[in-house]
Amino acid sequence: MEVIALGCDHAAYGLKENIKEYLTGLGYEVRDFGTDSAKSVDYPDYGIVVGEAVSRGACDRGIVICGTGIGISISANKVKGIRAAACSDLFSARLSREHNDSNVLALGARIVAPEYARSIVKEWLDASFEGGKHVRRILKIARYESGDPDWKQ
Ligand code: RB5
Repeated sequence: MEVIALGCDHAAYGLKENIKEYLTGLGYEVRDFGTDSAKSVDYPDYGIVVGEAVSRGACDRGIVICGTGIGISISANKVKGIRAAACSDLFSARLSREHNDSNVLALGARIVAPEYARSIVKEWLDASFEGGKHVRRILKIARYESGDPDWKQ
């Protein structure tokens, strides 16, 4: 079973605990990178750490949560190799896997209700990258990220 890295800020502490329980129940191994309370923290401290855990292969995929899912996804996306998708619907969550091979899912605890967040997580976990023409597009991102001046070729 895959290992899932989890991280959140204070706005999403409750939802992170909820999703942790859900993932454990599904049989996933969870690495919880915090935060561990509703005390105010800075979302980059968690988004970047989860991104690094996925990027170095310590975890297979990651789920990051803040108030909107935006700040923490921007943070995770600064880590090389991370394709974090902020999703608040099932279709985006599935397509982020099928077309973009997202390796981090970002959720907004102030956007989605806990039960719906669980559905988004399940949709994302169960979807697979389609490959084909989508590989070329992802490779362009990776080449740009690596500083290749010919990344568009
Ligand atoms: C924290 O108040 C809030 O700004 C944060 O959780 C997130 O929504 C940022 O994108």
